[in-house]
Amino acid sequence: MTALDAGLVGALKIAPSILAADFGSLAQAVAAIDEETDWLHVDVMDGHFVPNVSIGPPVVSSLRRYSTRFFDCHLMMSEPGRYLEAFARAGADGCTVHVEVGDSAALIGQARDLGLRVGLAANPDTDFAAVAPFLDDIDLLLLMTVFPGFGGQSFIPEVMDKVREARRVVEARSLALDIEVDGGIDVATAPVAVAAGANVLVAGSAIFSRPDPLGAARELRAAAGGR
Ligand code: DX5
Ligand code: ZN
Repeated sequence: MTALDAGLVGALKIAPSILAADFGSLAQAVAAIDEETDWLHVDVMDGHFVPNVSIGPPVVSSLRRYSTRFFDCHLMMSEPGRYLEAFARAGADGCTVHVEVGDSAALIGQARDLGLRVGLAANPDTDFAAVAPFLDDIDLLLLMTVFPGFGGQSFIPEVMDKVREARRVVEARSLALDIEVDGGIDVATAPVAVAAGANVLVAGSAIFSRPDPLGAARELRAAAGGR
């Protein structure tokens, strides 16, 4: 089963990152916030592209039985092309690869051929020019607001210049593209990111590290401007 509905392009979406959830009771953690989840953000770290290791296709496949939400898989991997098929088979709905690993055109084509919704991610210090050539070919632009690898880091406000630039191009060219921010998103930074032009908000700690994750997700949505 895959959740094919990615929602309206450009509409506000809350994407809780399970990286901050209790991996020992992931299904319950995901169910608890389901009603405030638009996309479920799955952080995949390979210990090479980033200095941390997280989870892979078996977890996507297990979780798939417990959620019908859009699974937004963020592949922080040096060689994502070796694993795209496994993620598609496991039930990923979208996969995002990093532009820094190179081969973006081929990776985008490969993901598309697998029937995935396709994202391209850029680190905080990667220029907009690196992703600009691919905007016609992707569904999602992920502009990292922290350096990837760990949850719980502080939002880097300078990335908002890049978000504004991306939103200007999307509007000017009427592109069907979601703009996602990831890292340090909470009730204070969410409105800043939305004002700059982001419409998909990934949040790990601000949801799962709170005593009431569902209430926290609801507060985050309200802070970002509501449904
Ligand atoms: C960072 C990950 C993020 C992370 C966000 O490498 O890509 O998705 O889980 O966590 P918070 O919201 O805690 O910054
Ligand atoms: Zn992420």
